[in-house]
Amino acid sequence: MTPLYELHDLKQSYRKETLTLDISELSIRSDGITGLVGPNGSGKSTLLKVLSFLMPYDSGTLLYRGEPTAGRESAIRREVTYLLQNSFLLSRSVYENVAFGLKLRRTEPSEVKDRVCESLARVGLDPAEFASRQWYQLSGGEVQRAALAARLALRPRVLLLDEPTANVDEASAQLIMAAAVTEAEEHGTAVIVATHDMPWLYEMSAEIIGLYRGRVTAGAENILQGGWKPEGGHMIRSFPGGQTVYAERTEADAGRAAALDPSDVRVALSRPQQTGSVNIAAGHVVHLTLERGRNSVLVTADVGGSFLKARVPEGDPLCRELYPQREVFFIFPYSSVRWL
Ligand SMILES: Nc1ncnc2c1ncn2[C@@H]1O[C@H](COP(=O)(O)OP(=O)(O)O)[C@@H](O)[C@H]1O
Ligand SMILES: [Mg+2]
Repeated sequence: MTPLYELHDLKQSYRKETLTLDISELSIRSDGITGLVGPNGSGKSTLLKVLSFLMPYDSGTLLYRGEPTAGRESAIRREVTYLLQNSFLLSRSVYENVAFGLKLRRTEPSEVKDRVCESLARVGLDPAEFASRQWYQLSGGEVQRAALAARLALRPRVLLLDEPTANVDEASAQLIMAAAVTEAEEHGTAVIVATHDMPWLYEMSAEIIGLYRGRVTAGAENILQGGWKPEGGHMIRSFPGGQTVYAERTEADAGRAAALDPSDVRVALSRPQQTGSVNIAAGHVVHLTLERGRNSVLVTADVGGSFLKARVPEGDPLCRELYPQREVFFIFPYSSVRWL
């Protein structure tokens, strides 16, 4: 299947000195839900704006469905819709807000009404109650849902959601995430969502892209930031409780961050023999998530007060032995701790 987007050497900066995006290679699939994760300031919103063709980038290439985008932006923009992190409504009724984009696209008046009502219902806003409400007569969660309805009404092929549940109540958050799943699974829309809701993403997404300081980072699930010190030929970092993680030597300062891809971590139920340059971290299972897109189980363990994640294939008999509070040992080579 042709990827939805392909990025090569894409760079973008707001200021001269710092690159906000520095993506050497990235391919985003055209089906299902793709998660975009990373700490605040890592470039998630900027990337979504580039992918929605709302913001130009400085250099590199961006292919959309296998084709260069230059000169086709306005056609593509009709397929791609983007929900801002803090969305707002126009100063008019909910109905007019959701109908607005449809009218711009000269949709038949009879169809506008159907689409508005259908879209409102999909985000849990009963049209009979909400269509005539004014923009100021809604709660924050309802505003966000109405804004999402306005995007869904356009029947996009690509839906970009920027932290859609960051500032809304729990019930609205669930409705928004359910609408995203319906959009992907029933309407075949490619959904790309930046969120900190990791349990939801692990369960629902086909793929997760980690960003750290504008770069795509494998292992963004486990970021070991700060507290590193050199010891002999290695860098070491201690966890409260006395356990230590070793990484390969770097000249970097103590505050440097490292990433550990959960796929590089093996899980054992009893302490293995120490062999060679391999870390063995003891912890207790706090969370298990079935990753539907990967057919694997993500195991989160408390290692001296820090959460580390490991990935186990779903078919592995070990999965049946894992449950919360179970003691586990995470095994990963020094070289799998990658400097960012
Ligand atoms: N309009 C802007 N002007 C200057 N710097 C910006 C602007 N928007 C974002 N930035 C900076 O770019 C970096 C990435 O921001 P952003 O894409 O919003 O990250 P995220 O969405 O992951 O929190 C941050 O360091 C942020 O301060
Ligand atoms: Mg953001």
